[in-house]
Amino acid sequence: AEDGYDLWLRYRPIAGAESTGYRAHATRLVAGDATPTQAATRAELLRGLSGLLGTEPVVAAGVDGDGTLIVGTPASSKPIAALKLKTKDLGREGYLIRSVRVDGRPATVIAANDDIGAMYGAFHYLRLLQTRAPVDALDIREAPRTQLRMLNHWDNLNRHVERGYAGESIWDWHKLPDYLDPRYTDYARANASIGINATVLNNVNASAQQLTPMYIAKAAALANVFRPYGIRVFLSARFSAPVEIGGLKTADPLDPAVRKWWADKADEIYRAIPDFGGFLVKANSEGQPGPQDYGRTHADGANMMADAVKPHGGKVIWRAFVYSHETPDDRAKQAYNEFVPLDGKFRDNVMVQVKNGAIDFQPREPFHPLFGAMPKTPLMMEFQITKEYLGFATHLAYLGPLFEETLEADTQVRGLGSTVAKVVDGSLHKYALTGMAGVANIGSDRNWSGSHFDQANWYVYGRLAWNPHLSARDIAQEWTRMTFSNDADVVQPIVGMMMGSREAVVDYMTPLGLHHLMGRSHHYGPGPWVEGGPRADWTSVYYHRATKDGIGFDRTTHGSDAVSQYAPPVARAFDDAAKTPEQFLLWFHHVPWDYTTKSGRPLWDELVHRYSQGVGYVGGMRHTWNGLRGRIDAERHAQVATFLAIQEKEAKWWRDASIAYFQTFSQRPLPEGEAPPE
Ligand code: GCU
Repeated sequence: AEDGYDLWLRYRPIAGAESTGYRAHATRLVAGDATPTQAATRAELLRGLSGLLGTEPVVAAGVDGDGTLIVGTPASSKPIAALKLKTKDLGREGYLIRSVRVDGRPATVIAANDDIGAMYGAFHYLRLLQTRAPVDALDIREAPRTQLRMLNHWDNLNRHVERGYAGESIWDWHKLPDYLDPRYTDYARANASIGINATVLNNVNASAQQLTPMYIAKAAALANVFRPYGIRVFLSARFSAPVEIGGLKTADPLDPAVRKWWADKADEIYRAIPDFGGFLVKANSEGQPGPQDYGRTHADGANMMADAVKPHGGKVIWRAFVYSHETPDDRAKQAYNEFVPLDGKFRDNVMVQVKNGAIDFQPREPFHPLFGAMPKTPLMMEFQITKEYLGFATHLAYLGPLFEETLEADTQVRGLGSTVAKVVDGSLHKYALTGMAGVANIGSDRNWSGSHFDQANWYVYGRLAWNPHLSARDIAQEWTRMTFSNDADVVQPIVGMMMGSREAVVDYMTPLGLHHLMGRSHHYGPGPWVEGGPRADWTSVYYHRATKDGIGFDRTTHGSDAVSQYAPPVARAFDDAAKTPEQFLLWFHHVPWDYTTKSGRPLWDELVHRYSQGVGYVGGMRHTWNGLRGRIDAERHAQVATFLAIQEKEAKWWRDASIAYFQTFSQRPLPEGEAPPE
């Protein structure tokens, strides 16, 4: 059944003559199976090539015919050693793919320094076939641009997934560690195929239970499944665990008994999981415990845990998403204020993980001012793959453009071209550690992600974590070809739909820099009126601030002064409404309803126009998708069509509710041609 379980690793047969052409390149396979990673690589190639080419390649020991694919490392493979390829600069995870001749016979080599590099190369080779790329004269060299490419699961031990819209957690804690669902292996394959090499199994709002012996054993069982695929397990750690499961009276990070408890806990975990990655910590945010409960700093807390894992080579990833509901100041400023003074005070095995924007995974936010502001502390990017604020699983929103927009944003801290991508890949500040985290959208649904198109968000996240400089459009093409079809008249319309889809969500939910207008707590559907009454930070602080005279949050030097957290040239631009990109206008400015926007329309008319434009785009996607009936299997086509119908209905709901609400402030009529709310 075409239920989406195979993700982008479908390996459906390539038609006719084309497949014959490809077959000539891979009739024989020289690939070892002396290690679990080698065995998994060979199995994947056999599976992929047999599926795509219709015949299983012959597994050979050496090159004794034309069309041999040779895979491995100089250490594991005699034919590769004999080729004397230059692999030094590829590091542990890089690889090369090259068309060569061996004893006069044409062959293709996938070579790396380590088994995992060879596995990544094998997936790349399969992708070439899956996307119908030429394979005659290959000369590819690839190495990841970041070290840690990580998923963060917000999965609870009762299998509820916080902000998860794809069923329940795929971790069947109850049956672990004995029963290993085959799905765990498929999860590892999918991640390895895009270069993801780390996973945090449990929610950042962590249960201390996760660190008890019973759950360590369960995590170890998963780590064993993932290890051959180059994926390391991390755990979210609850800061107060020494009190809750350790019987201590305090979790004060400077208390010797607490320090010993964490060191012992680390020893215990590493006995079960020798390559354990380390801890992810959410502390002193949204009510979570943390070092500030004891008058200590984030650095005191992070360093204490870093010391515990250091002897084992582990890391601590400390989140910068900190805010408290009660803070009367602009919430957008809090992380910067708490973390910048700590730059240089963290241990060398601590990384600070920063959300892409300063509020919370909104459909659009300006880049977080921490990027560029902590040159001595390795900052990791945190993106949200699951669409908490973008319509859950039924709204089609390809997040590639969102991720790309943030990565390409210019912090200007070291002059023009100091992009967020260069902070994240470490090149700007010469970080010794680099990485990216994505809050997973994976669950127990057959299609893993809650919708077929949400698989693309997992995919694009992984590809950008590998190389933050890739293009979202190229990745959309790749994914569409692997997932739906290689026919140009299918690829082109689908990629077209995808590329504008996130902008459409921005338009019908939060146009022109508005943010956090979603229904309270569930974050689905419009709620600019803040149902359930005021909350300090919502109504008076980071809310839309609509009044009879205008709308928008004044974060200029005359307002909350959040603009001053950016480098001076960026701050100056954001401080001036005329120089602020219009997409961030109401993020930084409170402007009158008759303010003239770039289109020439007054702000009120422009706002209404954007809401309608977003709805219109969804109508366009439905039209495009209907035109693809018969070009895509009926099962997937029907589900996407139904989801798009839901999306259109709800885009209208967003538009009508938002406009009706804002109209109570603007007191202006709907512009000509705009239908009144239904
Ligand atoms: C958001 C989200 C929470 C989550 C938090 C976080 O606020 O709504 O569910 O716990 O982000 O990133 O820690």
